[in-house]
Amino acid sequence: MRWTVTALVLALATALPAEIASAQPPVTGPDRQLGNEVRDIFAVRCAGCHGPDLAKPKGRFGYVLDLGRVAQNPEMVIPSRPDESELWALVQRDEMPPSGPLTTAEKESIREWILAGAPNISSPVSGTAGSSLRTELSIVDSSTISSPAIRAVRLVGKFHLLLLHFPIALLLTAGVAELLTALRGSRFPSATVQFCLTVTAVAIVPTVALGWVHASGGNGVADPQLLAIHRWLGTAAGVWVIGTALGAGRDARTGVRSRGVQMALIVGILLVVATAHAGGLMAHGRDFFDW
Ligand code: HEC
Repeated sequence: MRWTVTALVLALATALPAEIASAQPPVTGPDRQLGNEVRDIFAVRCAGCHGPDLAKPKGRFGYVLDLGRVAQNPEMVIPSRPDESELWALVQRDEMPPSGPLTTAEKESIREWILAGAPNISSPVSGTAGSSLRTELSIVDSSTISSPAIRAVRLVGKFHLLLLHFPIALLLTAGVAELLTALRGSRFPSATVQFCLTVTAVAIVPTVALGWVHASGGNGVADPQLLAIHRWLGTAAGVWVIGTALGAGRDARTGVRSRGVQMALIVGILLVVATAHAGGLMAHGRDFFDW
């Protein structure tokens, strides 16, 4: 019963932010700023592989956020003619992004953007004037332009990088304390282990949830396979560690450390270490540990 509830709570906690982040109500009407809309789509769905901050953007195409430059490259966009634009063809045929097709609404925004002459992003004040005054600004710094919602998701997601150290360190500490207790020949559940496990279980929920938020902001999409491994190992580790902490709590009440909890602790440590390793490779590149 407890397990089911825990799993359910964790699943909700992790799935909800991703849902909220991807659910953007469609904007229609004369004030619609197609440039901004498309740039936000590019920021989330394309910048992971074609963003300006990448040392080696895919396909040597690293300026997807610079709409002006994209629109001026006839090999990508022929303004007002989506059907002759390679970028639209790639998106329509689900060839880009390779990590998973865009939604119908996202595709439609891109088509309408090209149809409207592939306008650049509007300056923040122009929306009030009704007519969309386009800036000739070339965008270099992506953080200053995206919509507040996307910037908020990006900012919140970054706390994943901060929090993640706590579950790792605490779980390893719990492991060391458990080992020392076992080496002394004691089967009495150690209070240190219990404390570390409880704090780990509490810290791991926001860590996993923020990991999903971080990814929904476009982080890690450059390597979808590694992202999937990291994401699901991490989610599994979260559920597993909470279960282990509950098991340890039961041991504390009976006064005897069970072999099951010891095994669960070892598996939990392996899961967390594997997750951390995949995350490390995402941050530093798959070749980080190459000889
Ligand atoms: C997971 C990584 C990834 C994502 C995300 C991604 N792309 Fe690509 N893209 C690539 C790779 C790899 C190539 C090179 C393909 C090739 O050379 O055959 C490429 C090539 C392209 C090219 C051709 C560049 C050229 O000069 O030939 C365009 C245009 C393009 N992508 C647009 C997009 C758009 C638009 C999005 C978002 C909707 C997107 N891509 C998302 C990986 C990605």
